[in-house]
Amino acid sequence: MTTIAIVYHSGFGHTRVQAESVSRGATSVPGVEARLVSVDEYESAWEAIDAADAIVFGTPTYMAGVSAPFKAFLDATSGRWAQQLWKDKIAAGFTNSAGASGDKLNTLQSLSLFAMQHGMVWVGLGLLPGDVHTPADLNRLGSFLGAMAHSPVDATPEIAPGPGDLATAEHLGRRVAQAALRWAGARELAEAAS
Ligand SMILES: Cc1cc2nc3c(=O)[nH]c(=O)nc-3n(C[C@H](O)[C@H](O)[C@H](O)COP(=O)(O)O)c2cc1C
Repeated sequence: MTTIAIVYHSGFGHTRVQAESVSRGATSVPGVEARLVSVDEYESAWEAIDAADAIVFGTPTYMAGVSAPFKAFLDATSGRWAQQLWKDKIAAGFTNSAGASGDKLNTLQSLSLFAMQHGMVWVGLGLLPGDVHTPADLNRLGSFLGAMAHSPVDATPEIAPGPGDLATAEHLGRRVAQAALRWAGARELAEAAS
């Protein structure tokens, strides 16, 4: 079984809904299991995260970057970085914030650079931009590096992120699952050839 860990922070519930969509997309691929890990419980989930074939990182954008609780998780991986324990795992990222832009790109860039420090293999969104004025459109925020979602400040997690942003998150989960399956097959071939 190929496993995907989705490690996320959500202060007010919006990014959690996005994380659940990523998980739904991942588990829609036969042969793939997903484990949602809130950063509130990461200390008890290291074994599952270390064993995963892919790790998807998700955080709200706070003050133009990753949220403080999520950064605490990232910093707590430095021992794993020193051993390059996550080298060659698949990685991807998602973020949600109140502004249509809100500087979400900076958050995704931080996540991808973090993955590069770990020697991971980053998987982007793989979608062309949709129409920003069509709420159900895939990738209506026009991201390439990862999945973005928009939750206006006055909208509860029951209504935001909207349908297109959640479908985009689901797409990312499915894409990561497919990439992890392909990567596992390629690794077996590479090992057999060495
Ligand atoms: C401390 C703090 C900083 C924030 N900074 C930003 C920001 O830089 N850009 C933005 O668009 N929204 C910003 N927001 C709004 C959140 O990104 C938004 O409310 C998001 O939906 C919260 O996600 P959550 O419910 O998963 O915590 C900020 C919110 C907080 C609490």
